Amino acid sequence: MQILVTGGAGFIGGHLAEHFAGEGHDVVVLDNFEPYYDLGIKDRNVEAARNAAEAAGGSYELVDGSITDEEQVDDLVAGADVVYHQAAQAGVRKSVEQPEKVNEYNVDGTMTLLEAARRHDVERVVLASSSSVYGKPEYLPYDEDHPTTPVSPYGVSKLASEQYARVYNEVYGLPTVALRYFTVYGPRMRPNMAMTNFVSRCLHGEPPVIYGDGTQTRDFTYVDDVKRVNAQLLEDDSADGEILNVGSTDNIDIQTLAEVVRDEIDPSLELEYTDPREGDAEHTHADISKANELLGYEPAVDIRQGVSTFIDWYRANQEWYDPLVRNS
Ligand SMILES: NC(=O)c1ccc[n+]([C@@H]2O[C@H](COP(=O)([O-])OP(=O)(O)OC[C@H]3O[C@@H](n4cnc5c(N)ncnc54)[C@H](O)[C@@H]3O)[C@@H](O)[C@H]2O)c1
Repeated sequence: MQILVTGGAGFIGGHLAEHFAGEGHDVVVLDNFEPYYDLGIKDRNVEAARNAAEAAGGSYELVDGSITDEEQVDDLVAGADVVYHQAAQAGVRKSVEQPEKVNEYNVDGTMTLLEAARRHDVERVVLASSSSVYGKPEYLPYDEDHPTTPVSPYGVSKLASEQYARVYNEVYGLPTVALRYFTVYGPRMRPNMAMTNFVSRCLHGEPPVIYGDGTQTRDFTYVDDVKRVNAQLLEDDSADGEILNVGSTDNIDIQTLAEVVRDEIDPSLELEYTDPREGDAEHTHADISKANELLGYEPAVDIRQGVSTFIDWYRANQEWYDPLVRNS
């Protein structure tokens, strides 16, 4: 199959591209190499997918360009059977600083993609949405019918993009599925997230720093679980027009996460606390029963297992991945 992965040089898109290339599919990645974090990490994502394609006898093509470039997007979508749309300006804090840019990439970019997909009758568009669409919990865990009241421009942009995907299914019959990811982590993840900051600090003998009081809760979802549900959508067409939560087996507070990481690396370290960050949701927790019913989605990696695997990976790749080592 011809698979287009937008944002395929990024964390989740990189894992998807690597997986599909490793299955022998013909993968095209569109990514503008947004310098939002170290580009060396994106180079590793590209390398992993290229190697997977070589080993499996599939093909891998990297196109350096923007999801907002109508001509280029049209051209690439014309050659695709299925599109995995991951390209976005991710991150809540960036959206607080630059809301217009986030709207351009996340909303206009998604519209450009959906229009091209409609013109070329692609078999399916799978779109990355986010738990940030919920914002303020009226009850937990969030099911997909929970009101959406985003608390950041990023959350608004993800809500608009997933709703466009749903409406393109309803109005034009384009097969779309939107997945609301809940805090995804794993090898080659974006740096400057709670998980990477804790691991990096502890490996350097520094106490992990918690923003706020640490009572914020999250579903930490291991990237392999995310990969599996995306891969299933290549085979299974039962979720067209749906929006589905993709979370994890456990919901934990940030302080407990810091303790789990600290205990794995250096139990003698204390925890440190600093001011909370703007735009961060207080609590996210997924009810995944809809994805389970429709797709049999069952996250397999629990937080302790995931953290331990991630720390092993981090140690083995610290030289190029860890900002404190790279910049020293
Ligand atoms: N990682 C998470 O916890 C998480 C949670 C919820 C939703 N998501 C969503 O999942 C998707 C992937 O996130 P990620 O964590 O891999 O982030 P990422 O930043 O690693 O990946 C996004 C990729 O998109 C590319 N990109 C940005 N703007 C682009 C543009 N205009 N044109 C082409 N490419 C562009 C970036 O260069 C980057 O490589 C995003 O849509 C994000 O909103 C991620």
